[in-house]
Amino acid sequence: MPKKSSALLSIILILVLPRTVLSEKPPGEATFSPDGPRITQDQIVSGHLTLNQLRKAGLVIFATPFNHSHGYGDGPQNPADATTPGGRPTLQGNATFLRVNGLDAQSCVECHSQLNMDTVPPILGIGGAGGISTSAMFMPRIIDVSDQLQMGEASFNGRLINPPALFGAGGAQAIGREMTSDLQTLKSKALNNPGLAVQLLSKGVDFGVITADSHGRLDATGIEGIDADLVVRPFGRKGEFATLRQFDQGAMMFHFGMQPVEIFGPGTDDDGDGVTDEVLIGEMSALEIFIATQDRPVRLPARGAARKGFARFNAAGCSDCHRPMLTTTKPWLDFSFRIVDTVPSANVYYRIDLRQRPMGFKPSAGGVEVPMFSDLKRHDMGDGLAENFVAASGQKNREYITAKLWGVADTAPYLHDGRALTLDEAIALHGGEAASARDQFLGLSVGQQAELIAFLKTLRNPSRPNADIVH
Ligand code: HEC
Ligand code: HEC
Repeated sequence: MPKKSSALLSIILILVLPRTVLSEKPPGEATFSPDGPRITQDQIVSGHLTLNQLRKAGLVIFATPFNHSHGYGDGPQNPADATTPGGRPTLQGNATFLRVNGLDAQSCVECHSQLNMDTVPPILGIGGAGGISTSAMFMPRIIDVSDQLQMGEASFNGRLINPPALFGAGGAQAIGREMTSDLQTLKSKALNNPGLAVQLLSKGVDFGVITADSHGRLDATGIEGIDADLVVRPFGRKGEFATLRQFDQGAMMFHFGMQPVEIFGPGTDDDGDGVTDEVLIGEMSALEIFIATQDRPVRLPARGAARKGFARFNAAGCSDCHRPMLTTTKPWLDFSFRIVDTVPSANVYYRIDLRQRPMGFKPSAGGVEVPMFSDLKRHDMGDGLAENFVAASGQKNREYITAKLWGVADTAPYLHDGRALTLDEAIALHGGEAASARDQFLGLSVGQQAELIAFLKTLRNPSRPNADIVH
């Protein structure tokens, strides 16, 4: 690189990148330290940073192996609540790991790094999925590995969850926000028309019905696949998070014991580990923007057996839940802080155009096409796929949001806990509301099943995600 532009680049990096890049220490040693320049929300709001600079900053946060100087880990054990992040005990008091119930990695990229698991050797890439060894083990109270309870199986009453890939996440977030706005409007319609059963239809997806009485009380018993607040939550295998930011806050605390300022307040050391301001508001924004601008998964042209596969997918009823395509009405995605779940348009601080690279969503009417193969609804998947989570009721343990199938060729293992090692296993394990589609698949001839699977194999992760940043 010529001298002049390299000097310019250093200035840009000093202004923009969080401390990791500037540290002279080797990776993992006192990087991401509080003495370097850090991204503030003011810098983002005032437009001082380009999108690319923000994405780079987000990537650094995503890929930094946090250590104790950044605030990694929990503080002294809190006997009153020893399971939520902050006061968890660590293994043999090592002050670092627990592995079960979090404190299970040093960086986001440890678990989100498998780009293509359909080749040998696999291809790794930032933002990908995770294998079994990276599955999170959320809040168990009982782990009975040798079947002392004599149930014929090892018991685990927490949630065992396999990491999905993050590609295309901005499109999913945009669909979720627009659906939530639609449903909130329908809720107002119900409140303004007591006794009228209002159908909760958004983007062709049916979320049931809602009725209000003349006292403004809502009957939510007819709502399907989302919570009674009528907020669509595209993220988490249970459909529990409306925005990437909310997911990321939990990830920071659960996996690393890193405490975001937006939750604990500035200058406070809630976990008593001697570090304050562990993750700034601006840093959480950069992280969310980085994930929302992940490249979109791609659909390869169907050749050979795959040509008939999409028709089989539709005919078997797979697309009732795995909606091949939903479209937005606007081509952009707005980011909010503070987030008001029921009012997606509140407190917008930044906007990205989903048509632009690297997202590259195809324009459609005024908005974009989001071919994620999901309806963003939760479905009862039957007892076979039920979790045994102590803190949830029977029905909740059987419910999952329809898995997005874009990129599915590359993201084995499958299902919420990664129990299905192949696509046909994943389909055969469907139950509950998906039992009839499963039976239709199983009723196909071997050749017809192969056509459907060949179609799923055309749904690929982007081949060079984040190329503009990392290559
Ligand atoms: C120990 C492994 C692990 C680490 C480390 C990890 N994740 Fe994850 N990630 C998961 C698992 C497991 C899920 C699925 C969780 C669920 O469904 O509730 C997930 C899901 C997600 C999702 C939701 C994706 C979707 O479409 O539903 C986002 C966003 C995400 N992770 C971001 C992050 C960020 C940001 C970090 C770092 C701050 C991070 N993850 C660190 C394992 C991990
Ligand atoms: C009633 C809704 C519904 C129908 C119908 C349905 N699915 Fe699913 N599908 C889901 C849900 C929900 C999950 C996530 C289950 C879990 O995480 O355990 C899922 C997961 C999957 C997965 C695993 C994806 C991953 O990344 O883990 C594949 C593959 C899949 N479905 C294919 C199909 C095919 C093919 C059909 C038609 C034969 C079908 N599904 C019909 C709801 C449905």
